[in-house]
Amino acid sequence: MLRIETLSLKLEGKQILKEISFSLPNTGITTLIGSSGAGKSSLLRCINMLYHDWSGTIHIDEKNIKQWQGGDDNLRRFIGLIAQKPAIFPVSIAENVTFGLPRKQRKQDTSELIHHCLNQAALWNEVKDRLNQPAITLSIGQQQRLCLARALALKPSILLLDEPTASLDPRSKQLIEVSLHTLANHMPILCVTHDLEQAKRLQGQMVFMCHGQVIETGASQSLLQNPRKLETREFLHWEASD
Ligand SMILES: Nc1ncnc2c1ncn2[C@@H]1O[C@H](COP(=O)(O)OP(=O)(O)OP(=O)(O)O)[C@@H](O)[C@H]1O
Ligand SMILES: [Mg+2]
Repeated sequence: MLRIETLSLKLEGKQILKEISFSLPNTGITTLIGSSGAGKSSLLRCINMLYHDWSGTIHIDEKNIKQWQGGDDNLRRFIGLIAQKPAIFPVSIAENVTFGLPRKQRKQDTSELIHHCLNQAALWNEVKDRLNQPAITLSIGQQQRLCLARALALKPSILLLDEPTASLDPRSKQLIEVSLHTLANHMPILCVTHDLEQAKRLQGQMVFMCHGQVIETGASQSLLQNPRKLETREFLHWEASD
């Protein structure tokens, strides 16, 4: 469904991504792993057109995303991105969920939608009695889940997640993982994680990046158990001895 071909990105004269190529199937989870600074977040920003000046191509169902009908805003409705740092708007929890919806839709009764999205983001039980309080009063882990709920409210067709459970306790982490498995039944999900146990649980495909390049891709179980490339073996060795 989503096909990246020879994508390269330079920022301030520095090569950040080099000739990245891989595809996401129509459904299922792909985990993106690699050390800090490897370029994982930058890659997600390219796919979401938050960076424009990259070379190569990204196609979704054979459509080039640089020529997306309706422009970048429309593309971002199609591809939901939950960034590494949660971006919360200075409005209530409920209004944060519906923030990206067209004004007309926001004026209708959105309570069902808010409930559904907060539930999918494993946040409903913690906020159901304080939906009208400022979202800024939430903890970082809760803000991160609120961002997921906001992205889901737009009913995206592809989901990009940048370390979505980095600030979460094991229970919330598990709830998010269950949600991701359900969502992945009908859409492709690309999920950056530093948690290899999580990557194992999420299953699906895996992409390993190092110094701005894709080193290895494959089924996550086999990549973790039998890495083919030296760089992957070294990375997994260090992660395992943490
Ligand atoms: N705006 C920018 N200008 C210059 N360099 C940048 C910019 N943004 C990111 N970089 C550099 O690009 C490289 C990749 O950064 P990126 O945030 O994509 O890494 P990452 O794999 O997501 O790391 P982490 O696991 O720590 O989140 C880093 O060396 C970073 O310093
Ligand atoms: Mg990052």
